Amino acid sequence: MSVALLRWYDANARVMPWRVSPEDIRLGQRPDPYRVWLSEVMLQQTTVAAVRDYFRRFTDRWPTVRDLAAAEDAKVMAEWAGLGYYARARNLLKCARVIAADHGGRFPATAEALLSLPGIGPYTAAAIAAIAFDEPATVVDGNVERVVARLFAVTTPLPAAKRELTERAADLTPMARPGDHAQAMMDLGATICTPRNPACSICPLSSACRARALGIAADLPAKSPK
Ligand code: ADE
Repeated sequence: MSVALLRWYDANARVMPWRVSPEDIRLGQRPDPYRVWLSEVMLQQTTVAAVRDYFRRFTDRWPTVRDLAAAEDAKVMAEWAGLGYYARARNLLKCARVIAADHGGRFPATAEALLSLPGIGPYTAAAIAAIAFDEPATVVDGNVERVVARLFAVTTPLPAAKRELTERAADLTPMARPGDHAQAMMDLGATICTPRNPACSICPLSSACRARALGIAADLPAKSPK
């Protein structure tokens, strides 16, 4: 399963300013943890399309976490304006300053250590550990929940299904290329395994997908009525 997904990602990875392409990863390049962190914080509750320009402006102005740590609060808040959820920007600065002051300007390399930093929760810790440090951490966002619910035909509605979906997502995480795997799951959910009208006919996981076999892919994940 993960082999088919990675092969698909090699050919179809979306190009994003914080990513390193699968070819360059194969050549030994690693994504910059600062850029991965910044992108993941910006992408919480904001679309990839909206984040691109903000990400470029932030990294042009503050190319390293030490530069960001030394920035004036008001300048960072002004550059964040429009992204919303301003607590994210305040935590961003707090985190940058802890990394500059206590970690020599380098991000800790494990999900566990990352979790202790301001504003870094389980999702962000796993994303940085997997994408920047190749730790086999499992990254579960809404896209991944949908892919996994369909792959295993999990009919329990969200949010009750969260634990099962997380466990199943962890079972899928390979020891090899976990960062590319995490991003492949997100790209698959964003471009093929979409909420409505999933493009099952071109999906690299279609032959393994239980929901597709049952003809219920578009109905999953089920949601509890509010
Ligand atoms: N959404 C949040 N993080 C992402 C990533 N690294 N790739 C694609 N979509 C994302």
